[in-house]
Amino acid sequence: MSKRAKLHEYRTFVTRAVRQPGTVGAVLPTSEHVARAVAEVVPAHGTPTVLELGPGTGALSGALHERLPAGADHFAVEIDSEMVRYLAATKPWLELIEGDAGHLGDLLRTANRSQVDAVISSIPWTLLPADKQRELLAEVAKALTPGGVFTTVTYVTTLWRRNTIAFTELLRETFEEVLPRSTVWRNVPPARVYVCRRPR
Ligand SMILES: C[S@@+](CC[C@H](N)C(=O)[O-])C[C@H]1O[C@@H](n2cnc3c(N)ncnc32)[C@H](O)[C@@H]1O
Repeated sequence: MSKRAKLHEYRTFVTRAVRQPGTVGAVLPTSEHVARAVAEVVPAHGTPTVLELGPGTGALSGALHERLPAGADHFAVEIDSEMVRYLAATKPWLELIEGDAGHLGDLLRTANRSQVDAVISSIPWTLLPADKQRELLAEVAKALTPGGVFTTVTYVTTLWRRNTIAFTELLRETFEEVLPRSTVWRNVPPARVYVCRRPR
């Protein structure tokens, strides 16, 4: 990505983060190091259907796109219309659905999908109230194929907060297997990727 394009990405992200801090939930886009760790989780062969929740300016989308095979169906649900506009202009290969992931079932029906093989989420879970977290995660679990995988990014700076602890407990309630990967220090703030399989 050119310097100019990077600047455009950062300006878009930071502007939305300042205007909608509770929805964006981060000060900067996720680093390429986290993006690589996340992308390892999606299938590199076959024709997987892969859904991103909260792509923002697409910091994870590029790494996913590179990893996915040519026949993959890669699409994303983003709530912020400015982010959607930015993505449509810069990542034309990404199919976008503007909407709230909390209504995932309805959004998938409208987009003519039923189930997905992987959900990659970087929405700010720990800023959400417990009932919203539960509702959203239930929608994700319903949308996944039995062998599907859910992955999400949290920040190590918030690991000991009550909301984060509640969220990781909820992950364990929702999935049979919840694997925290090692901390990615090269991110602001340092991040932890969770990989979850087998919705209960
Ligand atoms: C922390 S940013 C992550 C952006 C990008 N994936 C990255 O890693 O840099 C969270 C993104 O989730 C979006 N978002 C928050 N709540 C959402 C929801 N309920 N449905 C869809 N997108 C949501 C925000 O607008 C924002 O783009």
